[in-house]
Amino acid sequence: MTAPADEYVLDTPTVRAFIASVRDAIAASGSAEEACDAIRPAFAALLADPDWLAPEYARDAPESGMGGGIGQWLLFRAADRSLTLFSLVVPAGSQTPVHDHLAWGLVGLYRGTQDEEIYAGDPDALELREQRALEPGDFYALLPPRDDIHRVRTTSPETSVSLHLLTNDTGCVWRHAFDEHTGEETPFRSGYVNVECPPA
Ligand SMILES: [Fe+2]
Repeated sequence: MTAPADEYVLDTPTVRAFIASVRDAIAASGSAEEACDAIRPAFAALLADPDWLAPEYARDAPESGMGGGIGQWLLFRAADRSLTLFSLVVPAGSQTPVHDHLAWGLVGLYRGTQDEEIYAGDPDALELREQRALEPGDFYALLPPRDDIHRVRTTSPETSVSLHLLTNDTGCVWRHAFDEHTGEETPFRSGYVNVECPPA
């Protein structure tokens, strides 16, 4: 049997250099928070570079697991599934369910504008804690349980595209969507538009 390999779905020097710098930063850091801080400059540079994301990974997706035409496109996945880079494409007027990620990492806005609503970390008493408006170049760290439950909505007339660097196989792991009113959680696997997940 062939050993699993890293998947550079978008295989470009920019993506390879970014992932290499992320791995160096993680290896040299003593905690997730420290790693996030070390990755910030490279992540900011990726968000500021208008050319590297091929248009096919910035398209919405009518049949996606997120609903609302929201497309989650895998760009890179580590062989051991401990690191992924993907784009999340949210059409104008669409919003994600309230959801968690179950892994630390960085999320930033690449195109368009979004409102983000962050919920308190205890799903039994889900409570809207913070709302923030995001513009291209804005990014934030997810350090579960802190800031792990949120919802994003596109506020621009054009589709928004955000970049996610997370330390799990976010599209394929079972995580949770939450009812914003009751806090009731539902098992949720978003999938990727362009890559299959193993059978549930
Ligand atoms: Fe999210």
